Amino acid sequence: MNTKKIKGNRQNLRVNAERLWNNIMETAKIGGTARGGICRLTLTDSDRQIRDWFVKTCESIDGTVTIDEMGNIFVRRPGKDNSLPPIAMGSHLDTQPSGGKFDGILGVLSGLEVLCTLNDAGYTTKAPLEVINWTNEEGSRFNPPMFASGVFAGVFDRDFAYAREDRDGKKFGEELERIGYHGKTKCGDQKLGAYFEFHIEQGPVLEVENKTIGVVTGVQGQRWYDVTVTGRESHAGSTPMNMRKDAMVACARMVEAINKIALNHAPLAVSTVGLVEVKPNSRNVIPGSVFFSVDLRHPNDAVLDEMDKELKVMVDRVATDTGLKAKLESIWNSPSMRFDEVCVSVVRAAAEDLGYRHRDMVSGAGHDAVYIARVAPTAMIFIPCENGISHNEIEKTEPEHVAAGANILLSAVVAYDKAELGMVRR
Ligand code: GLV
Ligand code: MN
Ligand code: MN
Repeated sequence: MNTKKIKGNRQNLRVNAERLWNNIMETAKIGGTARGGICRLTLTDSDRQIRDWFVKTCESIDGTVTIDEMGNIFVRRPGKDNSLPPIAMGSHLDTQPSGGKFDGILGVLSGLEVLCTLNDAGYTTKAPLEVINWTNEEGSRFNPPMFASGVFAGVFDRDFAYAREDRDGKKFGEELERIGYHGKTKCGDQKLGAYFEFHIEQGPVLEVENKTIGVVTGVQGQRWYDVTVTGRESHAGSTPMNMRKDAMVACARMVEAINKIALNHAPLAVSTVGLVEVKPNSRNVIPGSVFFSVDLRHPNDAVLDEMDKELKVMVDRVATDTGLKAKLESIWNSPSMRFDEVCVSVVRAAAEDLGYRHRDMVSGAGHDAVYIARVAPTAMIFIPCENGISHNEIEKTEPEHVAAGANILLSAVVAYDKAELGMVRR
């Protein structure tokens, strides 16, 4: 398409980078850890605190706040024609248990900053704008990840989500009530004209290539599994080696083999065992059972099918070889996603217009944009993070990169609005 048509930010609008950075640093105190990271698990008290901060701040700039029945928060700034579906920006406020200061909140606070910038400039878009906080992006407390944007997009049932339990048996629906964010609006009722999500890359490519902006064309496929290996608890001192049923030994063999499955499909495949629970978890008891998670990813779904087969065969083989029981359960399958070509072009044109070094890329991480792309034209913007490190308390990005990405978000939204690309009345 002719990107000249969609260069829309002729007012030279620019975000207030200092205000945005200060908001990121101020909110990092909510759930802040001693090592400079954030622990703000979904629907915990710290999630309530960050939501309260976000709602209060948005109301103070005259944003209209709506909360849906999944706890997703929508903040609307009216346009000239409010019968149009909103152009939306957003991401998530929850974090990993040892998360960093930028994963998720960057996209939400940058959306807020876009609204503040337009307020300061007295600029009214044709379509209304919306900033969204999606509940439970990380999936660390309640799996699968991204299920609130998934319910919005019709991928999951609301009651399936309410019934999901954390590792202590607490239900998502009850925790949502407890923190006071069970809203009334039906999830998925609002139509979006477009959706732009700004995020750190969470990998090393932009930094290595000295590029400021990643124009995200899609997201790789991802599959999650639960594995339970059952052996027999017995005494660590008096049970001879040939008479043991050690679930941890079988688990260790499986973990090694899962690593090999990704190496067999190098260089693009990745595999991770990130959660392990050993029972009874005592130094002098041979483990009777081990529960662990598996995360497989690849940009090509056909390769993921192969990896899935290899995993199933391997788990059966190790169970047979060790004489133990193993249960493998597939709990989530998120196919690879290609974003909307027009939205992607708008982001690329904004990067050109503002003179940033950029490249197209596929996201290795999952994002709510994957599900929203099923119901609205969607694209994402990435900026580098130091050494490509994320899901770590040391996660870091530079203030000038934050400013660059937020200005691309602003420009993309204004350009999309001016070109009337999302102007389908519902
Ligand atoms: C989300 O954070 C992911 O695991 O990609
Ligand atoms: Mn994220
Ligand atoms: Mn994350």
